Amino acid sequence: MIKVLFVCLGNICRSPMAEYMFKDMVKKEGLEKDFFIDSAGTSAEETGNSMHYGTRRKLDQMNIPYGNHLARKITKQDYKDFDYIIGMEERNVINIKRIVGEDTQNKIYGLLDFTSNPRDIADPWYTGNFDKTYDDIAQGLEDFMKYLKKNVI
Ligand code: 4NP
Repeated sequence: MIKVLFVCLGNICRSPMAEYMFKDMVKKEGLEKDFFIDSAGTSAEETGNSMHYGTRRKLDQMNIPYGNHLARKITKQDYKDFDYIIGMEERNVINIKRIVGEDTQNKIYGLLDFTSNPRDIADPWYTGNFDKTYDDIAQGLEDFMKYLKKNVI
């Protein structure tokens, strides 16, 4: 079982989008039983809130199913429970380490670190551009899956 936690700031825009996109990808590849996938935020600002309308609209448009997501903040326990803790931008990675402590088991990554062009995934909370966020996440997830198939699965 590979346990993956996607992390952004608020856990209402980018990380739940990545969570449901990756769940869909894994299901389509017949690997559902091999994964546990969740998401969290580095801030408690949006705790208990559902996904941003822009994220839901984009997932609907792409026919990607999602559940009744409620935002939560990452905990120290998450570091023990998950194998891959994947931030959407460098600032998330820094804040994840601030919350869970030193990354002694090399579990913390940036999503686009798996691509040939590592960079931040822009926050649609500020940009309003959920299409660009979706495209960047799709690229990151594709290359993350390639990495897992080459090294882990
Ligand atoms: P996310 O976007 O980190 O992609 O979920 C944000 C959501 C909420 C806030 C900032 C970013 N906020 O300041 O409440």
